[in-house]
Amino acid sequence: MTLPTLLIDCDPGLDDAIALLAAAQLGNLIGITTVNGNIGIEHTTHNALAIAQATGQDIPVHRGAARPLIAPVMDASYVHGPTGLGNVTIPEVTGSVASDDAVGFILDMARTVDDLHLIAVGPLTNIALALRQDPTLPDRLGGFTIMGGGAHVGNVTATAEFNVWADPEAAAIVFEDFPMVTMVGLDVTHRVLMRTNDRNRLRDAGGTAATLAADLLDYALERAGSIRGTDGAPIHDASAVIAAVAPELFSGTHHRVVVELAGTHTRGMTVVDERIGGRDGHETSTANALVLRDANEQEVIDAVVDAIIELDRNA
Ligand code: RIB
Ligand code: CA
Repeated sequence: MTLPTLLIDCDPGLDDAIALLAAAQLGNLIGITTVNGNIGIEHTTHNALAIAQATGQDIPVHRGAARPLIAPVMDASYVHGPTGLGNVTIPEVTGSVASDDAVGFILDMARTVDDLHLIAVGPLTNIALALRQDPTLPDRLGGFTIMGGGAHVGNVTATAEFNVWADPEAAAIVFEDFPMVTMVGLDVTHRVLMRTNDRNRLRDAGGTAATLAADLLDYALERAGSIRGTDGAPIHDASAVIAAVAPELFSGTHHRVVVELAGTHTRGMTVVDERIGGRDGHETSTANALVLRDANEQEVIDAVVDAIIELDRNA
């Protein structure tokens, strides 16, 4: 079976790291681009290099935007820890970035690689800059999936999800310029929680990637318990990877989505228009997003865990 060709733009981040490990097994991961988000660009890039190394594959890492387009630099260190990967001991990085030009790499790959699926699981700064440099980017991709937003739920505020909130102007550009975005938002990622039994399966497998993923989950489970009071940790970005490679495990609806930029209480909110035949005659034909709503939680989690365990077997 031919694996899907993937390029992941990310801000590692605990769940980004788990997503990268799974993607390295489930797809042909031709590159990783990094962006400021969960933590600063130096940490997200260092973390991406360490995770790429842990996959046992030669995956190039290209550094991207160090700050949002307009918004101030904020981080999610209260979730991901001061380095972005909790208190996890990561492999000593022996490689270096392939370039400081994430945008150029994204555009080059979109122009030269057939059926490339771009997956963005951090703030959308690099993607917006790529669109401004080459508005034909959407036409050159086989697929585009983001972890971001939410129809009726926020995390960093009551109405906004972190990736969109951290750079709302970038997200607004992305939703304006892409004809169709697969939006893996909090509506569905809060339904896919990894728990201690999943962590134990990884720990018991004992390989480099599985042990690293178990260590990452240990920290994520503790933070989820402290912050959300849940016994499971949402693996937001890994869910987005599974949505890209196994869309049959998810369900969603098509809607027009715009990003609020000016609201005092709603800046960074993804406004999902769910009207059908509303006052302005809203039609799903104006939809620019497939908003995922539900998933087969156990099958998604098993896909992630099995992939990471298999990655070690293939190393
Ligand atoms: O809101 C969840 C998203 O914000 C995930 O991508 C996580 O890594 C953080 O970036
Ligand atoms: Ca992320």
